[in-house]
Amino acid sequence: MDSGLPIAYDFQAPQRIVFGWGRRRQVGALAKTLGCRALLVCGAPALAETGVLAEITAAAGAEGVEIVPLETILHEPLVDDVDRLSARVRRLGVRPGDFVLAVGGGAAIDLGKALAAMAANHQSPTIKDYLENVGRDLKLVENPLPVLAMPTTAGTGAEATRNAEISSYDPPFKKSLRSEKIMPRIALIDPELTVSVPPAVTAASGMDAITQLIESFISRKAQPIPRALCREGLRQAVPAIVEAVERPDSQPAREKMAHAALLSGMALANSGLGMAHGVAGALGVHCRIAHGVACALMLPVALRVNRPACEADLARIAHLVVGKEASTTPGGPVDALIHRIQTICDRIGIPRRLSQLGVTREQIPAIVRSSRGSSMSGNPRELSDAELTEILEGIL
Ligand SMILES: [Fe+2]
Repeated sequence: MDSGLPIAYDFQAPQRIVFGWGRRRQVGALAKTLGCRALLVCGAPALAETGVLAEITAAAGAEGVEIVPLETILHEPLVDDVDRLSARVRRLGVRPGDFVLAVGGGAAIDLGKALAAMAANHQSPTIKDYLENVGRDLKLVENPLPVLAMPTTAGTGAEATRNAEISSYDPPFKKSLRSEKIMPRIALIDPELTVSVPPAVTAASGMDAITQLIESFISRKAQPIPRALCREGLRQAVPAIVEAVERPDSQPAREKMAHAALLSGMALANSGLGMAHGVAGALGVHCRIAHGVACALMLPVALRVNRPACEADLARIAHLVVGKEASTTPGGPVDALIHRIQTICDRIGIPRRLSQLGVTREQIPAIVRSSRGSSMSGNPRELSDAELTEILEGIL
């Protein structure tokens, strides 16, 4: 066991994971195991244009499962989105055999998980009261509707997590609905669905997965099974991400990225994250920066900042993803790792400075305050407000 991690833990994952090129065609048979009416939440409109939704509807119909299209969401879900949708479902009437089918990126899947919870729990009409530290802190008493998650991007791993990230711009926050009860019952991952994802989204979501794998590995809450998953995910994703961005139809690259994203979700759900995600959440609500871009920009910075607290663990990752060069690079394996990550970010178009994304000096105090979420609690080093301010000003 590396780093002397204690062998005592809980590990949670979807009850069933179905992974493989073209396996979306099995959605009907899988859906039937959950119920007979699917409340559909989806992401990009491209799903309708490319015929994927028609394909899913036909596959479900062939198994006697009715699809009720509810919402297409194009942004990270807001409190208002969840509340509006759950009010609509209450009007529709929830009945036995209902479940949620979420098809899309992390936004659609998180919205689906939140809807599944709100459809069954009625102590409050607003999701805000169930989020961490912003409302009445209510717990989910009733079991949510089962969720079948089909990711169409390779990044967040939301198909394998037990939280839904819900944002608000006024007041500004991004908080989790967190309960093992919202873990998707089935994760159906067909990497072919990611072929139509534009290069910039492939780049950002892929770097989100890589950030999740590294942050889970070095987290204060790290555990043995997630660590094994992180190793496998990084071994696949780091060599594949540039190819996935530059050759969108590369089947091997798309498979590796989708698999790494799934593993990153299982890892973060059990081990937590760190500083890059803490700051990325704040950049999302204060500056409306896409999650993956924010994570990618922050990752090399987080590696440098955390290095004193986890040099040996970062060296392990370096040997895994950089290979022989890790030992011969002046500065050692951790320098080699940081250099590799920065080179990838530069090549796939991730900016190095916050001002390139419109962040101003005046926004930094609010970003620092909002970075203190649950992600930050996994960071291997404590960071004072003064230190975090200095770090952010240094990359402005
Ligand atoms: Fe993430």
